[in-house]
Amino acid sequence: MRSLLLDVLICILLVKVSKSEKITFENVTVRWRVDNELIESVATSESLKKIIPDVTQVSVHILGHVPILYEKSIFDIPNLNRLNLSNVGLEEIESQAFGNLPPLENLLLSWNNLTQIETDTFSDLNVSNVDLSFNSITLLEPGAFKNFNASIVSLDSNRLTELLSGVFENVTLGSLSLSDNLLHTIPPTALSSIGLTKLYLLGNNFEEIDPEVFDLQELVSLDLDYNSIKLLRPGGLRNLPELKKLWLSGNELEEIPEGVFNNTKLIYLYLAANNIVKIASKAFEDMSALRVLNIDFNNVTHWDDNWLSGAKSVSEVSVRYNLITEIPDEVFKNNSHVTSINFQGNKIRNISAKTFYKLEHIGYLNLANNEIDNWNPDLLVDVSVGSLDLKENKLSCIEGDLETVFRNVEITHLENNPWNEQCVKKVEEFIMNKKLDVS
Ligand SMILES: *[C@@H]1O[C@H](CO)[C@@H](O)[C@H](O)[C@H]1NC(C)=O
Ligand SMILES: *[C@@H]1O[C@H](CO)[C@@H](O)[C@H](O)[C@H]1NC(C)=O
Ligand SMILES: *[C@@H]1O[C@H](CO)[C@@H](O)[C@H](O)[C@H]1NC(C)=O
Ligand SMILES: *[C@@H]1O[C@H](CO)[C@@H](O)[C@H](O)[C@H]1NC(C)=O
Ligand SMILES: *[C@@H]1O[C@H](CO)[C@@H](O)[C@H](O)[C@H]1NC(C)=O
Ligand SMILES: *[C@@H]1O[C@H](CO)[C@@H](O)[C@H](O)[C@H]1NC(C)=O
Ligand SMILES: *[C@@H]1O[C@H](CO)[C@@H](O)[C@H](O)[C@H]1NC(C)=O
Ligand SMILES: *[C@@H]1O[C@H](CO)[C@@H](O)[C@H](O)[C@H]1NC(C)=O
Ligand SMILES: *[C@@H]1O[C@H](CO)[C@@H](O)[C@H](O)[C@H]1NC(C)=O
Ligand SMILES: *[C@@H]1O[C@H](CO)[C@@H](O)[C@H](O)[C@H]1NC(C)=O
Repeated sequence: MRSLLLDVLICILLVKVSKSEKITFENVTVRWRVDNELIESVATSESLKKIIPDVTQVSVHILGHVPILYEKSIFDIPNLNRLNLSNVGLEEIESQAFGNLPPLENLLLSWNNLTQIETDTFSDLNVSNVDLSFNSITLLEPGAFKNFNASIVSLDSNRLTELLSGVFENVTLGSLSLSDNLLHTIPPTALSSIGLTKLYLLGNNFEEIDPEVFDLQELVSLDLDYNSIKLLRPGGLRNLPELKKLWLSGNELEEIPEGVFNNTKLIYLYLAANNIVKIASKAFEDMSALRVLNIDFNNVTHWDDNWLSGAKSVSEVSVRYNLITEIPDEVFKNNSHVTSINFQGNKIRNISAKTFYKLEHIGYLNLANNEIDNWNPDLLVDVSVGSLDLKENKLSCIEGDLETVFRNVEITHLENNPWNEQCVKKVEEFIMNKKLDVS
C-alpha cells in the first residue's frame, strides 16, 4: 500500500504537470489579415501573442475547439484590434485571461458554452464591443466587468435569472443588451451610474416598470417588448428623464392610464400586441415630442379626440387591427405634421367628409380591411394623399367620376370590394388607367 504522503506527492506532481501544460490554443486554425491578404495557420500555443505576427492592427478569427481560456492567454498584444472566438465550444474563461490589449475594439464570444463570468474576467478592458450572446450564462459575478469601458455589451440569449449589484462596478457602458434572458427585475442601483443610453430587455419576465429600478438618468432607448407587463403606473417613467424611445409591444397591458407618459420626451412609443381595451383620455397628454405612436393589434374600440390633441409633432399613427368603428370628425386637427395614418383591419363603416379636416398632406393613408360601405366624394378635396388603401372594404360603388374623386391621390388601391354591376366597369377602368399612368 502506498503511503498517504506518496499520494499527496503524486497529486502535487500531477497538478504541477497539468499546470505547466495549460495550452489554450491546441491545433486551432487561426486566421488574420495582413495588407488585405488572408493568412491562415494551425497553431498550438498557450498564448495568442506567440501565434500572430507583430504587424499593426490585426483582426484574428479562431476556428476549432477552445474549451478554456486560461489566465493570460490573451494578454499584452499591442496590435490586436478584433478577436473572433465565436462558436469554439468555449466553456470557461479564467479570470485575467484578457489584459493589456490597448487597441482591442471587438471581442466576439457568442455561440459558446459559457455558464458564468467570474470576477475580474473583463476588468480594465477599454473596447467598443463585447458580444457574449447565445451562451448559457446563468451568473455574472460581482466585479466581472470592473473598471470596464465599452460602447456595447451584448448578453442576449443567455439564461440570466438575476443580475447582481456590483457586476458593473466603475463601468462606462453605452448600450447593454440583455434580451431573451429570464430576468424579472434588476437591483435598483446596478446600472444607475454607468452612463447607459440604451437598454434592451426584450423577451424577459418583467411585470412592471418600477421607477426605483428604472432610474437611469441618461437612458434614451428602453426595449421591454415581449415581457409580462400588465400594469403601467402613473409616474413609472419619472426617473427616465431623457427617454425618447420606448418599446412595450407584446406585453399584457389592458389599460393605459393617465400620468404615465405626460411630460416625457418620448418620440417613439410602441404599444402593439397587448390587450389594450381602454386608453385614458389624457394618456398621451403633454407628449409634445411624440412622433410615432403604434397601438396595432389591441382591442381599442373607439378613438378619443383628446388623445393626440397636445401631441403637435406626431407624424405616424398606427392603430391596425383594433375594433374601432368610427373615426371622429377633425380627428387630427391639432396634428398638422401627421403624414402616415394606418387604420387597417378595424371595423370602420363610414368616414365623414370632415375626418381629415386641417391636414394638407397625408403620405400614407391605410383604411384597408374595414367595413366601409360608403365613400364621401368630398372627403379628400382639401388634402393630398400619396397612397390610399381601401382594399377589402364593403364598397359597392363610389359616386361620381373616380378620376375626380381621387384627383389628389397618387396611388389608390380599391381591390377586393363587392362592386355592384353598374360600378364594376368604372372601377376597373380607373384601376387600369392608373396602372397605365404609372408605367
Ligand atoms: C494536436 O496535434 C498534435 C500533433 O499533430 C497531436 O499529437 C495532438 O494529439 C493534437 N491535439 C489535439 C487535442 O487534437
Ligand atoms: C465570427 O466567427 C463565427 C464563427 O466562426 C462566424 O460565423 C462569424 O461570421 C464571425 N463574425 C465576424 C464578425 O467575423
Ligand atoms: C455548446 O454551444 C453550441 C452553440 O451554442 C451548442 O450547439 C452545443 O449544443 C453546446 N454544447 C453543449 C455541451 O452545451
Ligand atoms: C479607451 O479607448 C478610447 C478609444 O479607443 C480612447 O480614446 C481612450 O483614451 C481609452 N481610455 C483609456 C483609459 O485608455
Ligand atoms: C475606474 O476605472 C478607471 C478605468 O476605466 C480607472 O482608471 C479608475 O482607477 C477606476 N476607479 C476606481 C475607483 O476603481
Ligand atoms: C471610454 O471609451 C470612449 C470611446 O471609446 C472614450 O471616449 C472614453 O474616453 C473612454 N473612457 C475611459 C474612462 O477610458
Ligand atoms: C402627470 O399626470 C399625473 C396624473 O394625472 C399628475 O399627477 C402628474 O403631476 C403629471 N405629471 C406631470 C409632470 O405633469
Ligand atoms: C381582445 O380581443 C381578442 C379577440 O378579439 C380576445 O380574444 C381577447 O380576450 C380580448 N382581450 C381583452 C382584454 O378584452
Ligand atoms: C388644439 O388646437 C387648437 C387650435 O388649433 C387649440 O386652441 C387647442 O388648445 C389645442 N388643443 C390642445 C389640447 O392643445
Ligand atoms: C355613419 O353612418 C351612420 C348611419 O348611416 C350615421 O348615423 C353616422 O352618423 C355616420 N357616422 C359618420 C362619422 O359619418
